[in-house]
Formats: sequence, C-alpha cells, structure tokens
Amino acid sequence: ELNIQLDQASGKISPHMWGVFFEDINLGADGGIYAELVKNRSFEFDQPWMGWKKLDNAGEGTYLLLNDSQRKGNKRYLRLNNVSNLKLGLQNEGFRGMGVKDGEEYEFSLQYRSPNADMKINVEVLNEQDKVIGSTVLPLALSANWSEGAIKFPVTSTTAKAKLNVWFSGAGVLDVDMLSLFPKDTWKGRSKGLRKDMVQMLADMKPGFIRFPGGCIVEGRDLANRFQWKKTVGPINERELIINRWNTEFKHRLTPDYFQTFGLGFYEYFLLAEDIGAAPVPILNCGMACQFNTGELVPLEQLDEYVQDALDLIEFANGSADTKWGKLRAEMGHPESFNLKMIGVGNENWGPQYIERLAVFKKALNEKHPEIAIIASSGTDPEGDRFDFLNDKLRAMNINIIDEHYYRPPSWFLSSASRYDHYDRKGAKIFAGEYASHTTRPNGPGKSTWEAALSEAAFMTGLERNGDVVEMASYAPLFGHVDGWQWSPDLIWVDNLQVYGTPSYQVQKLYSTNRGSEIIPITRAGQPVAGKDSLYASAVYDQKLGQLIVKLINYNSKPVEVSFDIASRKKLANAGEKIILAGKDLNVSNSIEEPLNIQPKLEPITFKGKKLTDSLAPYSFTLIKLQVR
Ligand code: AHR
Repeated sequence: ELNIQLDQASGKISPHMWGVFFEDINLGADGGIYAELVKNRSFEFDQPWMGWKKLDNAGEGTYLLLNDSQRKGNKRYLRLNNVSNLKLGLQNEGFRGMGVKDGEEYEFSLQYRSPNADMKINVEVLNEQDKVIGSTVLPLALSANWSEGAIKFPVTSTTAKAKLNVWFSGAGVLDVDMLSLFPKDTWKGRSKGLRKDMVQMLADMKPGFIRFPGGCIVEGRDLANRFQWKKTVGPINERELIINRWNTEFKHRLTPDYFQTFGLGFYEYFLLAEDIGAAPVPILNCGMACQFNTGELVPLEQLDEYVQDALDLIEFANGSADTKWGKLRAEMGHPESFNLKMIGVGNENWGPQYIERLAVFKKALNEKHPEIAIIASSGTDPEGDRFDFLNDKLRAMNINIIDEHYYRPPSWFLSSASRYDHYDRKGAKIFAGEYASHTTRPNGPGKSTWEAALSEAAFMTGLERNGDVVEMASYAPLFGHVDGWQWSPDLIWVDNLQVYGTPSYQVQKLYSTNRGSEIIPITRAGQPVAGKDSLYASAVYDQKLGQLIVKLINYNSKPVEVSFDIASRKKLANAGEKIILAGKDLNVSNSIEEPLNIQPKLEPITFKGKKLTDSLAPYSFTLIKLQVR
C-alpha cells in the first residue's frame, strides 16, 4: 500500500523543473532545426567547394574564390568571371540531400554584385533521379554594390534527397555569396527560420527552460573555435562560421562537413526560448577549451574579454534599447527584454583551473548583476573524485546552481533514484543538465530503448521527490539526424523530412507536461518508493489545475497490484485519468518507420473514497491524475 499525504507538501517544484538542452551535435542546428537547405552557402568551409559541384566545363579562371578582408565575418565570395551562357552552373548537395515537399514553396536567395550587366539565374530543384521538380528564374539587375536577390517557387514532388542547381547567364562578371534555399513553411512562418516539425516537438514538451548552445561546443576543441555569442548576432551574412567541435569527435562516424554557420545564433536561441515558453539558460565559455581535446587555458590575467562577454550577454538579453547590446537586440526585432535570469559559466570543465576562472566570473557577475543566478558545472562522472572535488568547491563558493551530468547504464539510473533523498538542503541547488541511460556504452552507440527510458523515468521520480533541491533537469543530447550523427542515444531523431520521439522523449514529455507545483509525499511503510521490489513513485500537486498527479514505475516483468490511500482534508473526485507508457519488452524502440511503438495510452480510473487499487502493467510508467475539489 502506498500512502499519499496530500495536505503535507514537502516543498515546491520549480517552474523550470523539466526542460531541454539544445546543442549543435548530430546535425542538430545546421542540417537540422535551422531550415537552410544549402550546405556551405557562403563558401566559408575549410574546403570552400565542399557541398558544391560545378556543372560545366568552363575553363580556368571562370570560378574565382575571392577573399575580401574588408568584409565582416564572411570574407569569401565567388566570382563568376565570364558568364556567357546558360551552361554555367553549380549544384549543391544539401545536408545529406535536401528535404522538400510536394506543393510547398521554397525561397531561393543570394547576395550578388553584377557591375557590368543584367544577369539572370535559373534555379532548379532536382529529385534523386535528377528530374526537375521545381524551378524558377531570378533576374538580377545591374548592381555595383552587394544586393540581395530572392524568389519563391513551388516544388511538385516530395523527397528527402533533393539537390539544387543554380545556372547563371548574361554576359560579364557576377559576384555571388550566401546562396540559400529555405522552405517558406517554417516555425511561425519566419523567413529563413527554423524547421517547424522539430520546434513543434520541443513546444509539445512545454519545457521549463532551454539550455543552449552546448555542451562541448561552448568550449571548442581549442579556444579559437569556442562558441562566441557576439559572433552569432547581427546580420546573418556577417556571422563568422567555425568548425563544429563535433566535426572531429568519434572518428568512426566522422562528419567532415560539420560547421557552425550561426544562422541559428543567440538572438534566435532567445526567440526560440520565448516561443516555446522556456526560460533561456545560456552557457558561456569560462576561459577553457574542451579538456577532452586541447584543454587550452586563457591566462587568468587575460580573462577580461570572457567575463565581459557574460556581462554584455546580460545586457543583450535584458538591457534597454538605450544600451549598446540592448540596442542591437531591439534592432534585430525584439525591443522587450528576453528576461534572462540564469547564466552558466563553463561546461564540464574541471580542476583548480576551473575554480579559479569561475571565481573571476562570479565576482564580476555578482557585483554587476546580483539578480542573475550562476550555474557552474561539476562534470560527467558522478562517482569520481573530480566530481566530489568540484562539488565541494562549488558549494563553498556559494554557487547558486550546480550542473551535474550523467551518462550511465540503466542500473545506475535505477539505483540512483534516491540520489538526492539525503542531499544537503542548504546552499547550491542541482541542475541535472545532461543525462541519458546508455544501454550499450562504452561498447558502442546506444539505442533509446524502452529499457533506457523506463530507467530514466524511475530516476526522475527521485528528481521530482527532491524538487526542493533539484531545480532543473534535461535529457541529452536532444536531436540526432539518422544520416549524420556522432552521439547516440538522443531524445528526438529526424531525417530531412520526418521526426519522431524516442521512448525517452515520451517519458520526458509526460513529466514536463505534468510537472505540478508542490511535492507531495508518497511512501510505502514510511519510506520513499525508490526501488524496493522494483517500484518507484513520486507525487505532485498542481495548484493551478487543482490536480494530484502520481507517477509510478513498475520495473518488473509481471503486473503489480498497488493500492493507494490518500490522506487529505480536501474532497477528491471519484474518477480520474490514467496515462500509461509500456513496452511489450524492454528492447522496444521507436523509429522513423514505427514512431509510436511506445506512446501514451489513456484510460479512465475510478476511486472509492480516498482509496484506489490498481494493477501496474509489466515494465510500465503509469501516471494518475485526480481532480482535487
Ligand atoms: O551531450 C553530448 C555531450 O556530452 C555534451 O556536449 C557534453 O557536455 C557532454 O560530454
């Protein structure tokens, strides 16, 4: 029998409790949520022709790559030196092809300069059989300065592997850059925006926060390639791309064409957060490159630039339009504040070097912005000395929130459901900023099976039960592209046209859309339900909705009978709702072909007075909701 003390809430659940962590890994941004279909649109990749093919036999000197040091961010452009017939053309292969849909409109655009003649561009979208499935003609007026040309046109067939042909004609010289193709139908219909289906998956989770932009990409493999937010705002054609840190990781799954073009930059991240109702949680480089790579350090006396980046970011997010960075935000289209309340300094950095650098940030941030909570990272190895060292130091420094990461086998998640039951309630709060149950690590890439998801669900009862100390939690990584990934398991998988949520996604979504506002004690023989007989449970009360929400995990291969006794002075409805996630065995998974093997099933449930007896399905996650009057 489980006892629920509905009138004795033991703490508050943070409104930010369940969120998402977005990183540009596994083609998450470029080739993923950022809906640009052209790869290497500005010829800025290390190999400038990557993604492109010349379609003609034009002689030497026809295609010239010029590097103009006067241009900001994006210095390279293409000179077509002697455009004279329709056979001068380029083909772009997209990111593992381009996903296009029958009946939808696409916008081709470019920047161009054509100082001595009118030109025109024939644009074609081709399917895998090289059949033209959409085309248009874009006239380019004589233009001594860089101008933008754009045209929309429909595509008449659906394929995940389209290509783009761009044919140039006229007579004379034509300079081109930022050759681009976007679907018109993006998230919120924003021009050159985000992939609607991918953002929708996030919005459906109603996440309490979004942590961005990483992850290891914050650190960079070296400091030159760290994530610098200032280079990701302002006009898109002036954003300087860098090699993605995941371009070099896991060499057996190398993605050599992985760059960060920053079309999805910090402004867009803040906007995304606002769109999906999530608190923005930016993470900044602390003056250290990824210690799994070079581990380069900025000397302490040269840390000012990094600290200034943090201070300026607060101004960019929250400052009035009279401030330098607030003005830029307003000019970009958002005069209102983005309401930034938390900032992360460092990701998985360790050693005394991290503590020293963090202390410099903390001093400056606390002095200038006491209203901003600081998140510091304690790394990935919850059993290791490094983790303990950092946790002790971070607590001693009065850091507001400690970001803990765990990529562990299912057994760890099951046995860690009580991890925070006896945690020090004073001082730093916990942010479980990255976690995922890995069924196969370290021997190979993991699959998000029902086993992984159910063990996460069990662990999450412990996070919820301890919501007074665990302030936030997010699974990682968020997205994986089936044709170009470095890390697995991931929460959501996509190809160029489709998207599906893994069983872990279903678990995360069920938690985050049923988060409640108060922790309600649920016990068995006076103890938390945290693994005995492979049962796990937590309960919350949602003050706004007046609902008691109970989460139960049966990690047994057999059904288990449970009875509840709800102690309360309040009146309870005698009918409620039950949502069940269950798999026929632990190896079940979702996939592009079978996206809903694991999906929530809804059932009514009846209470007798304040008692309920129910049978929990084998290997199941059951959520019960009951209206309190
Ligand atoms: O989520 C993938 C990576 O795991 C993140 O970039 C890093 O923070 C962690 O090691």
